[in-house]
Amino acid sequence: MAEIEKVHVLFVCLGNICRSPLAAGVFNHLVEQRGLAQHFLIDSAGTSSWHVGEPPDERGTEAALLAGFDISAQRARKITNEDFERFHYILAMDQTNIRSLRGRAPEQHQSKIDFLLNHSSSGVLEVPDPYYGGVSGFQECLSLIREGAEGLLETLLIKHFPSYR
Ligand code: 4NP
Repeated sequence: MAEIEKVHVLFVCLGNICRSPLAAGVFNHLVEQRGLAQHFLIDSAGTSSWHVGEPPDERGTEAALLAGFDISAQRARKITNEDFERFHYILAMDQTNIRSLRGRAPEQHQSKIDFLLNHSSSGVLEVPDPYYGGVSGFQECLSLIREGAEGLLETLLIKHFPSYR
């Protein structure tokens, strides 16, 4: 896979209104800061259809704005079978997401699925669901997600674009 021109990265959570929009937003922000936007296709999806069509949770949008990026134009969608073909990397927020994705992905695409936080060195593997908490939960979420996104970008640069490091 090392020769691909554009790396397709999908972030997945349950509702696609809290964690995965933040993950897509922060990863996009990091990629833009490095001037590498043309080399990545970045998207997010949920394993459920509960919030399809809705914008990200306002608490997350606010946390993102404070951190310098805007996720307000994103709209929730549910993962499709096509996503397993289209994306090279599918990064989940927690164990429940991993189970849903593994239950649905065809055998040849199983290896694309991983925890986002497997790319961070924090020792934490799951981004907790912030939906029923307060604003501070979203900030903690974003901080975990940022670490994962930074590690993921390093991994992908080494693997696919070593000259950009
Ligand atoms: P997300 O958070 O999976 O990070 O988008 C949630 C959003 C909504 C619900 C649960 C988690 N819900 O129960 O509606």
